[in-house]
Amino acid sequence: MIWKRWSRSEAVQNEAPAAEPLPESPIIESYKDPAPDTGISRPAFLDNLWREPAEAPRAQPMPRFSASAADDVETGDGTDLARRRLALRDALGASQPVIGRESFAGRHDALSQLITAVEQNRVHVVVYGERGIGKTSLAHVFAETAREARYLVLYSSCGTEAEFSAMFRSFAAKIPRLYHRSVLPNSLEAERGDNFDAMLPEQFGPRELAELFAEVIGTRVIIILDEYDRVLDPSFRRDVAELIKNLSDRAARVQLVLTGVAQNLDELIGYAPSIRRNIVGLPMRPLNYAEVRELLGIGEAAASIRYTDSAAAMINTMAGGSPYLVRLLAHQAGIVALDQRRDVVDGEHGRAAVERVLTDWNTSLPRRVQASLARDEAREHWPLLIAAARAGSSADGYFTIDDVFTELGGAQSQPTIERDIKQFAGPHDLLERHEGGGEVRYRFAYPGVSSLLMMSSAMARLAA
Ligand SMILES: Nc1ncnc2c1ncn2[C@@H]1O[C@H](COP(=O)(O)OP(=O)(O)O)[C@@H](O)[C@H]1O
Ligand SMILES: [Mg+2]
Repeated sequence: MIWKRWSRSEAVQNEAPAAEPLPESPIIESYKDPAPDTGISRPAFLDNLWREPAEAPRAQPMPRFSASAADDVETGDGTDLARRRLALRDALGASQPVIGRESFAGRHDALSQLITAVEQNRVHVVVYGERGIGKTSLAHVFAETAREARYLVLYSSCGTEAEFSAMFRSFAAKIPRLYHRSVLPNSLEAERGDNFDAMLPEQFGPRELAELFAEVIGTRVIIILDEYDRVLDPSFRRDVAELIKNLSDRAARVQLVLTGVAQNLDELIGYAPSIRRNIVGLPMRPLNYAEVRELLGIGEAAASIRYTDSAAAMINTMAGGSPYLVRLLAHQAGIVALDQRRDVVDGEHGRAAVERVLTDWNTSLPRRVQASLARDEAREHWPLLIAAARAGSSADGYFTIDDVFTELGGAQSQPTIERDIKQFAGPHDLLERHEGGGEVRYRFAYPGVSSLLMMSSAMARLAA
């Protein structure tokens, strides 16, 4: 994962930590310098972060909305500032996927690989990568591009409860019957305006569905199944694999694009040799610096501001190629600058943005978790916890003692690591312990804790 890679190659500015859109953080009054052999020095900014929350300053004005909800933008300084703030949020807010090309930065290679796979190679595609790396955004922009080329694109986000026949019946309901081989253009059926679902039996499986889809003519259909990793039911995945196989065997004009959180293809589709040659895996890589710059450019144009090279480098490093984190940090840094009535966002604004983000993450952690992080053992074993967070930065968050050992570069013995890790694996503590398949694995009970630890360590390295 990106965070991992970044932390292992400190010198590389282009590769920084990626994280999940998951917030959280700790409250610790003081902080002991960790063991010197870890190379992690004490970050000054943590003093602020870990101080008990200051008594709320008194006599502050009540918060107000910064702009009128009516769209008529008045002139004058205050409203201009408010307008720019909102424009910045619209351009760089991190809570929504990108849905149009105008706010999509970089990724030309991924988009063109996706197009080639679908258009030239006529295969099905699995787009995979960690949370926040931009899978859904890529899927939306790809859909827009394919629609322009007259593809019929159907999109659905999978839930944990996804059920094969219900989901695919609703896709069939969006394919006009007009595109069925047996239907003549001016016939009654064509004019009735019904859809493919009318031709599906009550009960159907992947085989019957593929038979029907093989009758599509006059267009090509792309079905996007987003968040495929969330589906819990193994029979759903089996059915989808079977569908892919049957569609491929029949050279049907229907192709699937699946996206999901995973580190490799097998994790997402399972071991299915029969469909391997009909599927292409497209791993999403971290954004490079040029793409980060392009993304910042979208904010710059929207809010008439400018990110200096040092702000851009800082955001790039802290975000580690995660577009989610780039937006989160760039948005905050821009707000800090605008609040100071500055058009130029510099490294200090970037630093302030990181602190804000860490503080927000911390505050959003349950009180109990904040307390766990604040206790003496956590302070003492901070480098160990960071190593654990890095070790667990794979898709499912699990790590072993061995992984932590590797992260620490052999600085501590395995029995020591095991003993220390166990201190945090009690009931309701920071870590969960899982035993199975002859292996003991751990993971952070709240994924936000590991994001927090990793970003604070990245910040510490930057300060060092
Ligand atoms: N190429 C991109 N350009 C601009 N913003 C992006 C890009 N890719 C992702 N984002 C932003 O990053 C965040 C996470 O993207 P998303 O597509 O939801 O990731 P995923 O589906 O992999 O979890 C969203 O705020 C989205 O707007
Ligand atoms: Mg997504």
